[in-house]
Amino acid sequence: MTPVIARTREELAAARARLRGTVAFVPTMGALHAGHRSLIRRARELGDAVVVSIFVNPLQFGPNEDLDRYPRTFDDDVAMCAAEGVDLVWAPTPEVMYPVDPQVRLSSGRMGAIVEGAARPGHFDGVLTVVMKLFHQVRPDVAVFGAKDAQQLALVRRMVADLDVPVRIEAVPTVREPDGLALSSRNRYLSDAERATARHLSRALRAGAERVADGPAAVLEAARAVLDEATRADPPLHVDYLVLVDPATFEEVGRDHVGEAVLAVAGKVGTTHLIDNTPLRFGPRES
Ligand code: PAF
Repeated sequence: MTPVIARTREELAAARARLRGTVAFVPTMGALHAGHRSLIRRARELGDAVVVSIFVNPLQFGPNEDLDRYPRTFDDDVAMCAAEGVDLVWAPTPEVMYPVDPQVRLSSGRMGAIVEGAARPGHFDGVLTVVMKLFHQVRPDVAVFGAKDAQQLALVRRMVADLDVPVRIEAVPTVREPDGLALSSRNRYLSDAERATARHLSRALRAGAERVADGPAAVLEAARAVLDEATRADPPLHVDYLVLVDPATFEEVGRDHVGEAVLAVAGKVGTTHLIDNTPLRFGPRES
């Protein structure tokens, strides 16, 4: 089934009016891969109708980031949507999405200024602003996000709670390559040698997860050892952060933390910024 493709607000409004029942929504920036496919499949399970947006949002890119070279693979994206039974693809141009420079934007607060937000100032304000606009445009009942962007997911959940947005947020686990590398639209930038270095991110997370019974300090130490190795690889990994955080707030947890946490890592290989994370659960430890 070929999805309806809407490129203007009028086309979207007409196509949205024809959708019946529960509408499940997957917001994307295109360059769809198997990770997106799993989001769309979950949306298919949750909704009577599925809407996918494809929009590379300039507001969430910093001045020195990869907005211009971000992969744009529209025809392949639509083919994947067709294969997965998507009903409607919303693909506005930047001019349709932002007819004038938006003066009023959402602030992601402290939660958007720490961890990934510290490395990418303004990024999460841009993400929340476009996600809120997309929610108003598409009017979904449920929206599906990937756990790979754990801080984005936490912030969208927080936005929905703080601003009483009537959309249910559903998370889908990260999809990985057989060697552990988390799927990302940016992986296609990597040369073979860069890819070999990039693998250390997921290896670090696995090494950390193996020490969960020994507590937060041991987890961080084990993960850090793998990242240290990667900083000596050719080409090297430039580590932005390795943190163990509360999944809801993204504040770092203490040495005695008990309960849920996310071990999150980010770094650059060549000019490619990569992130990854794994959820962990710390039980009470004997002293
Ligand atoms: O995760 C993404 O692809 C983007 O940040 C999103 C949610 C589509 C907003 O532009």
